Amino acid sequence: MGGVMSSLAEARTRAAISKDTPKDSSVPARLPAKFIACDMRVEAETTVKNALGHYNFPLKTITNNNLEGVREADIILLSCKPQGFKAILGEEGMKDALKGKLLISILAGVTSEQIEGFLYPGGNKPADACRIVRVMPNTASFVRESMSVIQTCTPPLEENHLKLVTWIFNQIGRTASLPASNMDACTALCGSGPAFFALVMEAAADGAVAMGIPRAEANLMAAQTMRGTTGLVLNGEHPSILREKVSTPGGCTIGGLMVLEEGTVRGHVARAVREATVVASQLGQGAVNVNGPRR
Ligand SMILES: NC(=O)c1ccc[n+]([C@@H]2O[C@H](COP(=O)([O-])OP(=O)(O)OC[C@H]3O[C@@H](n4cnc5c(N)ncnc54)[C@H](OP(=O)(O)O)[C@@H]3O)[C@@H](O)[C@H]2O)c1
Repeated sequence: MGGVMSSLAEARTRAAISKDTPKDSSVPARLPAKFIACDMRVEAETTVKNALGHYNFPLKTITNNNLEGVREADIILLSCKPQGFKAILGEEGMKDALKGKLLISILAGVTSEQIEGFLYPGGNKPADACRIVRVMPNTASFVRESMSVIQTCTPPLEENHLKLVTWIFNQIGRTASLPASNMDACTALCGSGPAFFALVMEAAADGAVAMGIPRAEANLMAAQTMRGTTGLVLNGEHPSILREKVSTPGGCTIGGLMVLEEGTVRGHVARAVREATVVASQLGQGAVNVNGPRR
């Protein structure tokens, strides 16, 4: 939330300084005016205040009273553990409190249909039902470098809501929009991806340490090299072309790449994303032991 709060604070300061600043069309006409954090434990209030209290933006914390928080809010960001949503949304009065509001869920593996089916069983959805939008951010949101996937909705979200959701998640990184059928793969690539890339980065640093580079420098070099590579790709370079450009005939890069290909690294990395996709799809259905041997 830090990234979102600092952007909201900046927007407030800009608006206070000058009413004549040129309008940015990506900024929603109405931005959130305060942030209410709901948690079960009283200790969480201190954590939230320490993390977010220094932004020039109204912040309120509520303990053990989600209903009050939802009643007071227009937009609700659901971010409990995936299996916890029924306890929160099943509370008496919650359906009423959610009327006409926007419910953003970032729960891994839980579909919008599951949430909607729980709130409005048997398809009994009133005209003023809340709008549910599923978003899959990732842990890099802490450094405002998340890759967040916003699930497209049918019928589509009204423009103001879509603009707002996109704006919120653009404050903590980049966004893409994809249909529900892609969300498990998005969870695997974007949600689990930082862990996969961290493993590759660590392995590269280990190799350098084995060849005499001190650990701290090796970690820094691996991280910055990965960052530089992502910078080039995000700037439009295709990964295959990048690889070819760096591979001098008879040189060290192609020598190293041959080893990676012998180790079927490419197939295994792709397989990790495929495996995580399948696991993500089962988690949402409440399956247990999803990582047990399958073959
Ligand atoms: N972490 C990621 O990279 C990532 C990426 C994409 C999506 N997600 C999704 O984001 C969600 C949160 O993940 P996380 O890693 O941040 O988990 P987490 O650290 O366990 O956070 C869950 C929070 O929800 C609170 N909570 C649980 N039940 C509640 C209730 N009944 N009322 C009010 N608050 C309640 C917890 O409070 P207590 O601390 O008091 O238990 C905790 O602060 C998960 O659904 C996950 O799938 C996470």
